[in-house]
Amino acid sequence: MKIFIDTANVDLIKRAHKIGVLSGVTTNPSLVAKENVKFEDRIAEILQAVPEVESVSAEVSPNAVTAEEMIAEANELIKINGGDKNVTIKLPMTLAGLEATRYLADKGVKTNVTLIFTVNQALLAARAGATYVSPFLGRLDDISEDGVQLVTKIAELFRVHQVDAQIIAASVRHPDHVTRVAMAGAHIATIPFSVIEQLAKHPLTDQGIAKFAADWETTKV
Ligand code: E4P
Repeated sequence: MKIFIDTANVDLIKRAHKIGVLSGVTTNPSLVAKENVKFEDRIAEILQAVPEVESVSAEVSPNAVTAEEMIAEANELIKINGGDKNVTIKLPMTLAGLEATRYLADKGVKTNVTLIFTVNQALLAARAGATYVSPFLGRLDDISEDGVQLVTKIAELFRVHQVDAQIIAASVRHPDHVTRVAMAGAHIATIPFSVIEQLAKHPLTDQGIAKFAADWETTKV
């Protein structure tokens, strides 16, 4: 399973990139809003910060409601950074979003259909030509449903029917989500930096380092 970072903060993206684990970035209007920057400028900065990653998701604005409006915005987003191939257009899981997904897929543009909460939505998005489908597990857990189970079912359906779209497990809240979606067959998890940090940590690792450091001192006498 590949790791994407779920943030619009360039410093955090660079930090995750530095530790060598990053395959992509996802952003959304709420994440960019936290940064107090112009949306297009921030997407350009991210693309320049991590040119090697396979995908940087940039979402069409909530003002784009029809497929035509979404396609018009997508065409502008594609031009950011001189038509960088890493730009992935993120589209909402609506009928208009699907129509725009099909149009862009036929033009060879990468797409990420977002706000997926059912297996049927994932199937439709994949059949509309989405490169990525993003089930939001944390938000399902928040309403007492089982987000990981949704990812498990989508992965099974995609396997049985040889569907090409990659599953991005999104709305990841903690390390156990990461382990479980990896075991479930998600191709990618998009993870906040705080959770990436948690993945690297274990109290026994810290204790082990402290013990080695203490013992190392005794080897100097
Ligand atoms: C994914 O692409 C979304 O940006 C993100 O994972 C949403 O997560 P949230 O439910 O924590 O807002």
